[in-house]
Amino acid sequence: MTRPTSSVDPAPSRLHATSLSTGYGDRRIIDDLDVRIPDGSFTVIIGPNGCGKSTLLRSLVRLLKPTGGSVLLDGTDIAHTRSKELARQIGLLPQTSIAPEGITVIDLVSRGRHPHQSALKRWSEHDERAVQKALTRTGLADLTTRVVDELSGGQRQRVWIAMALAQDTPILLLDEPTTYLDISHQIDVLDLCTSLQREGRTLVAVLHDLNQAARYATHLIVLDQGRIIAEGAPTDVVTADLVRDVFGVGARVIPDPETNTPLIVPHAPVFPDPGAHPAPAGPSTALMEGTR
Ligand SMILES: Nc1ncnc2c1ncn2[C@@H]1O[C@H](COP(=O)(O)OP(=O)(O)O)[C@@H](O)[C@H]1O
Ligand SMILES: [Mg+2]
Repeated sequence: MTRPTSSVDPAPSRLHATSLSTGYGDRRIIDDLDVRIPDGSFTVIIGPNGCGKSTLLRSLVRLLKPTGGSVLLDGTDIAHTRSKELARQIGLLPQTSIAPEGITVIDLVSRGRHPHQSALKRWSEHDERAVQKALTRTGLADLTTRVVDELSGGQRQRVWIAMALAQDTPILLLDEPTTYLDISHQIDVLDLCTSLQREGRTLVAVLHDLNQAARYATHLIVLDQGRIIAEGAPTDVVTADLVRDVFGVGARVIPDPETNTPLIVPHAPVFPDPGAHPAPAGPSTALMEGTR
């Protein structure tokens, strides 16, 4: 008798949700969703605005309670896990955060160590090292005494990432970590995610740039209207049909010349030639729109 091949075995997953439903008030955003975050992966979630990406991440750390189904960590429903224990296992960088007024970079990043403290376990050398490492890895070592409110949007975003890193969790969820960052810092953050993943952590990030998602993800999840439309290796998942169906954009998908991962090239827009005579109303206008 042969064992089933590994291709049919689901990848091990410490963190998964079964039949998860949740929303806000009476409005259901996620309905009966099964999702597994493969251990040791860099999972990237993509999907149109408002499709439930942030809602899903919030549910995975219990910021939002399920109305049905459950989120399991190591087989235990996180509804029954102590808050600090959960925060020692899973960190979340929310999509938006507001820093306490007047707080310095080092003080905010140090708050990432909160789940590791207790009455018996005060601030230690180990906490200090975790904070310094997080500051260095996010390029903030020279800004530690600056007031967070007075930083640029991109610097502030890196402070929040540093705080999540200082939490030092085996699973890290990042909701749009590259928003507000210039291209160089976007690449720094994504490279950092890959380094963390290669050190053995499980990373989950919501990204908007599909080409970056395809380059960096080891596992890609495509969400639309609270449902998983496709998931797997980017090469298997990203197709012109998917980009059209989920994002409503006509595009070619070609191999990225640098990485061979799928590269999405949207079709050029078709604008009427300003020198041409006005097009007669009727079929020709419709034809032009049909080429998009
Ligand atoms: N706090 C909230 N209260 C009410 N509705 C919300 C709240 N947060 C998000 N929503 C709604 O839930 C839906 C999904 O939002 P969200 O998960 O933030 O989407 P995404 O992150 O994919 O852009 C949207 O229609 C949004 O308006
Ligand atoms: Mg969001």
